[in-house]
Amino acid sequence: MILVTGGTGLVGSHLLVHLARKNDIIRAIFRTVETLEKTKQVFSYYSDSSEDLFSKIEWIQADITDVPSMIPAFEGVKQVYHCAALISFDPSDYIEMRKVNIHGTAIVVNLSIDAGVEKLCFVSSIAAIGEDPKKEFTTEENEWVGNEKNNGYAITKYGAEMEVWRASQEGVDVVVVNPGVILGSGFWESGSGKLFSQIDKGFQYYTDGVTGFIGVKDVVKSMIKLMESDIKSERFILVSENKSFKEILFSIADSFDTKRPSKLVKSWQANLFWRWEWLMSKITSRKVRMSKYSAKSLNSKSYYSSKKIQQELEIDFEKMNDVIKKVCKNYLI
Ligand SMILES: NC(=O)c1ccc[n+]([C@@H]2O[C@H](COP(=O)([O-])OP(=O)(O)OC[C@H]3O[C@@H](n4cnc5c(N)ncnc54)[C@H](OP(=O)(O)O)[C@@H]3O)[C@@H](O)[C@H]2O)c1
Repeated sequence: MILVTGGTGLVGSHLLVHLARKNDIIRAIFRTVETLEKTKQVFSYYSDSSEDLFSKIEWIQADITDVPSMIPAFEGVKQVYHCAALISFDPSDYIEMRKVNIHGTAIVVNLSIDAGVEKLCFVSSIAAIGEDPKKEFTTEENEWVGNEKNNGYAITKYGAEMEVWRASQEGVDVVVVNPGVILGSGFWESGSGKLFSQIDKGFQYYTDGVTGFIGVKDVVKSMIKLMESDIKSERFILVSENKSFKEILFSIADSFDTKRPSKLVKSWQANLFWRWEWLMSKITSRKVRMSKYSAKSLNSKSYYSSKKIQQELEIDFEKMNDVIKKVCKNYLI
């Protein structure tokens, strides 16, 4: 039996489609019934008979931070894909992120060890890989540097990886993937899905910052290939192309055949904005729309190399313009 956590999120839902095509039955956890509908929608992007595919999922209601709810999910499980996480760049979410990302992963690891799970695939992030200013491209070899520049999300994804490496010491084979920003269909009002819905609504701003991007299908295909291989105790950066936010947003606008964003947000403007947001969040207790970290990352330039996975699995990742065209098509359905 295969267990998927985070099956009601972007990565997990696309992963479930691919796993359901290959297997008779898959187990996945969910927290609320409403999120199952969004997952069903992702299935509909792949097949006309999506109901049949969806019915291959055995859903168990569980929270990764709650051990008793998780125990039944591990019965008879041989492989685990751990995709569940809390993604936020709002400093006020840091404690909750520690709970879900680090403590929750420790629970997944402990239950995997107890259940005799053979292999575990953990979805980490490029955020959990240290940057080396002396190197043009960040690779899997880069050392994590613990300092005050790290944001809460990065710290908790790195902490989660530490829990996963512990599993490898205790008899569970593990592989870790570190994707860049993942673009894919569905979940239009959260995460990277917002890039599509915002441009559709006429969003006008862009920045020059550069980071690694990848399509969700390449992420899940890589995960499945790694789990089916003999590879273990390795981490892999998953990035198709290093692109600027300007290039990505312009490409989305072009695919929608709508107006490109026209206002460049410079570093100093972003810096001013996050300070304003911080102040307003303190006065009104509302969430910040841009954090100090988001402001920095939207304007910084980071380049990642995916050579390791491409050589190991002999795969080529889809170019981002092609990914974006397909995602925009699904958005308009
Ligand atoms: N999206 C990206 O660009 C990106 C880039 C690099 C790495 N990643 C990593 O990829 C993984 C999947 O990301 P995603 O984009 O699919 O995120 P997502 O769409 O926000 O989905 C997160 C998933 O985690 C589940 N979850 C959160 N807290 C949970 C808890 N306490 N117990 C059980 N489930 C819980 C959510 O369940 P509910 O539906 O109940 O909320 C949802 O299924 C994460 O580990 C993330 O760090 C994402």
